[in-house]
Amino acid sequence: MAGHGRRLRVMLLFGGRSAEHDVSRVSAVSVGRALDPARFIVEPIGITREGLWVRADAARELLADHAQALPEGLPMEGRLIGGGTTLPGPDLFGPGTADPNGQPVDVVIPLLHGPYGEDGTIQGLLEIAGVAYVGSGVLGSALAMDKVSMKRAFLACGIPTPRFIDFREWDVGPALIARIERELGYPCFVKPANMGSSIGVSKVVDRAGLAGAIALALELDEYGIVEEAVTGREIEVGVLGDHPPMASVPGEIVPGAEFYTYDDKYLDGLAQLIAPAALGPADMAEVRRLAIEAFVACRCDAMARVDFFFEEGGRGFVCNEVNTIPGFTAISMYPRVWQESGVSYPELVERLVELAIERHQRRMRRAGAPRR
Ligand SMILES: Nc1ncnc2c1ncn2[C@@H]1O[C@H](COP(=O)(O)OP(=O)(O)O)[C@@H](O)[C@H]1O
Ligand SMILES: [Mg+2]
Repeated sequence: MAGHGRRLRVMLLFGGRSAEHDVSRVSAVSVGRALDPARFIVEPIGITREGLWVRADAARELLADHAQALPEGLPMEGRLIGGGTTLPGPDLFGPGTADPNGQPVDVVIPLLHGPYGEDGTIQGLLEIAGVAYVGSGVLGSALAMDKVSMKRAFLACGIPTPRFIDFREWDVGPALIARIERELGYPCFVKPANMGSSIGVSKVVDRAGLAGAIALALELDEYGIVEEAVTGREIEVGVLGDHPPMASVPGEIVPGAEFYTYDDKYLDGLAQLIAPAALGPADMAEVRRLAIEAFVACRCDAMARVDFFFEEGGRGFVCNEVNTIPGFTAISMYPRVWQESGVSYPELVERLVELAIERHQRRMRRAGAPRR
C-alpha cells in the first residue's frame, strides 16, 4: 500500500440477517485482528439479525481481546445507524460520517455470508454509496449465490457440474417427482437455490423423503434445485485477484457426517480440512484451471472459493459451487489454502483491500458510464 501517507479507514461489516450471522462474527474477529493498526483504522459495523445497522464501537476492543465471537448483546447496544427496511444510505460511508479526524471510509469489507450479504444486495448499496469494497460486485455476487443461475453459467462455459432440475412452488407435484426419478434418481440432493452453510440441504434416498426435502427448500427460498448425488472427494480451491485471477493449491474437505452439513461445518468440528489436498500434478493443475474458469464464468472479482467434487475414474472434477465470501476465520479453508500457497492471512486481507481500491479506481476513471 505504498504511496498512502495516512492510515486507511476500513469498515468491517459483520453479522447480518442470514443464518450465517455467527460465522460472520467469528470471521470479523480474525480479519479485524489481521489488519495492522499502524496502517489501518478498523471500524466494525454490526448488522443485527433483524437487519439493524449499528456502530459497534465497543467491538474494536473485543476484536482485539477475544479470539472467538463478539458478545451476543453488543449489536443492540451500539449506536443505531439505520435499520429494518430503512437503508443506511450513502451518507453512511461519506464525509458526513467521517471519523473525528475527518477521514471518510476508504474500503468496506463486507464479511457477510448468504442472503443480504453475499448475494449482491449489500454490494448494490455499496455501489450506490460509491465506496470501494472487497470482493465481487452485484452481478458476480448474485450469480454465484443462485445455484441454478450459477450452474447455467457453468454449463454455458463448458464447466462440468452435477445434473440438476430447478423448481418453484407451483412446479411441485407428481410430474416433478417423476422427472426427478427419471433424470436424476436416488440418492439426490435437494436445496434452496439461494442459501449457504448447507442450510436447507437434504440428501434424499427415496420417494418418501422427497416431499419433505422440497418443502424445506421452498421454506427458505422461492427457488429450489435438485441435483444428482455425485460420489467423490470434496476439493476446494481459492481464487484471488483479477488480472489475472490466481488459483491457490487445492484443499480437501473430509466431512464428518453423511455429507458436509451445517453442524459438521460449525458445531461438531468433525469435518477435516486438509491442505494441500493429496492430488497428482495433472489433477492439481486441472482443478486450478477449472476454478479460474468458474470464477470468470460467474463474473467474480478479487476472491472466491470454488468447490468441486472429484469423481475419480468418472468425469473428474465436477464443479459444485462458487462462494464469493468464503468463511474467513483463521482456520477456514480459504485462508488455509492461501497460507499453503505462500500468502499469509494478514497478506491476504491486505491484498483484498488493495484489489478493492484498484477496482474502485478503475470505475472512477469511467465515472458516468453505467456500472454492471
Ligand atoms: N450433488 C451433490 N452430490 C453429492 N454431495 C453433495 C451434492 N450437493 C451437495 N452435497 C453435499 O452437501 C454439502 C452442502 O451443499 P452445497 O451445495 O455446497 O451447499 P452450501 O452452499 O450450503 O454450502 C456439500 O459440501 C456436499 O457435502
Ligand atoms: Mg458448499
